[in-house]
Amino acid sequence: MNEILLIVLAYLIGSIPTSVWVSKSYFGIDIRDYGSGNAGATNTYRILGSKWGTFVMVVDMLKAVIAVKLAFMLPEVYDNELYLINLQLGLGLAAVVGHIFPIWANFKGGKGVASLFGMVLGIQPNVALCCVGVFILVLYLTRWVSLSSILASIAFPIFILYIFNEPEYFYRVFAIIVALMVLFTHQKNIGRLIKGGESKVPILKYRDR
Ligand code: G3P
Repeated sequence: MNEILLIVLAYLIGSIPTSVWVSKSYFGIDIRDYGSGNAGATNTYRILGSKWGTFVMVVDMLKAVIAVKLAFMLPEVYDNELYLINLQLGLGLAAVVGHIFPIWANFKGGKGVASLFGMVLGIQPNVALCCVGVFILVLYLTRWVSLSSILASIAFPIFILYIFNEPEYFYRVFAIIVALMVLFTHQKNIGRLIKGGESKVPILKYRDR
């Protein structure tokens, strides 16, 4: 029962629609009506500038970090490592689902990348850093955030299975599900990447307002 309450709490935290609230509160617009229509850090950067894009990215990450740390509210986790990791994965996933389908914003949220990164950071920082490495490399080479997100997410189960040799079965399956989820949320981006027309992020251009 306690686990279920924590999962619901993690979902509610993940549901905080940072970019929607920022765009409505400070700019009087709904970020989902502009750019890619995504309620995420990249679109916030694109439409509202680097300062707000960074803010949204940090908050969206932190939501998932906080969600996985909720596990430590249960005393059982302290002497059962397997239980801890499985609970953290469940809480993190609930936060990511909340980010993608936020109850506070008509279930129309972001693509889950920043929250996913926050979740992995909260559970296994070394794996998260490897994924960031892939993200930064692809972004540097292509300037497509979407492609960087997709390849970093595909790298996640590869790191888990082949580099870190994660023994926990649930974690391995989970990593594959997560990669598929990111592919699912990036369907439109994939279409644009194939056909042409996906917008690139100007790395050194500042458009703060
Ligand atoms: O994290 C989302 C990013 O990969 C793509 O965002 O706004 O270009 O669809 P966007």
